[in-house]
Amino acid sequence: MTAKKIDGKAVAVAMTEETRIRVERIKAATGIVPGLAVILVGEDPASQIYVRRKADQCRAVGMMSVEHRLPSDVTERQLLDLVQRLNADPAVHGILVQLPLPPHIAAAKVIEAIEPAKDVDGFHPTNVGRQVVGSGGITPCTPMGCMILLKQELAELAGKDAIVIGMSNIVGKPLARLLLQEECTVTVAHKATVDLEEKVRRADIIVSAAGAPALVKGSWIKSGAVVIDVGINRVERNGKKTVVGDVAYEEAGHAAAITPVPGGVGPMTIACLLQNTVEAAERALGL
Ligand code: GUN
Repeated sequence: MTAKKIDGKAVAVAMTEETRIRVERIKAATGIVPGLAVILVGEDPASQIYVRRKADQCRAVGMMSVEHRLPSDVTERQLLDLVQRLNADPAVHGILVQLPLPPHIAAAKVIEAIEPAKDVDGFHPTNVGRQVVGSGGITPCTPMGCMILLKQELAELAGKDAIVIGMSNIVGKPLARLLLQEECTVTVAHKATVDLEEKVRRADIIVSAAGAPALVKGSWIKSGAVVIDVGINRVERNGKKTVVGDVAYEEAGHAAAITPVPGGVGPMTIACLLQNTVEAAERALGL
């Protein structure tokens, strides 16, 4: 069996086209351009790349994108003041603070300062809480992207054994909840998990968001499993810098389907961010 390569990029392109049409509709109905404000603190090279991609895609669908680049020694107070200004700015419909933040800034405090209606990352406790109890709320982008790809590959999620490797607030925890909502039986593995191999071997759905290259070996993957690789790991192979996921991709030929890195989950995260932003704009404008 040769695993199907899940083309996240193609799915993201189709989603982004839908968003572009919604942006056009908003402009036609109200004359208002939906706007996303992105805040980047410091010089982290990976974060700089992600933020640039988000801004470029935003403009490509006709939305306004404003980038706020702050030095790594910015104070928490200054960052909170900027968030407050963006909360009050009617031209801004979505606010994203790129994580991680420098250690002297309490990320939780900054996230809680964002107006929940503009929290297009879905990280604010109000959105997390609403999602948990099933009363709306904004879905975080990467988990949403993973679910879209899984639903495309599997006619039925109910009853499947799923493992999520990683328990971050950005990916692992919200994704486990979304899988549970679809009636999967969910295992969440993390640094303290004993015998990860045995737990992965049982899974029909494997999602790895650990940030560890080749963590998931091909021999651990059940034949016919669907594998979603959220890892983005910068490594050196044969003297060349390259990006790999958490799964030993070349060993996963017996999976039913697997996302490549790059070109799998990454583009879906941005497509979902644009969708969350256009929806935030529609709600703000009463459309
Ligand atoms: N850092 C890594 N992923 C994300 C994300 O989805 N949103 C934000 N704000 N920061 C991130």
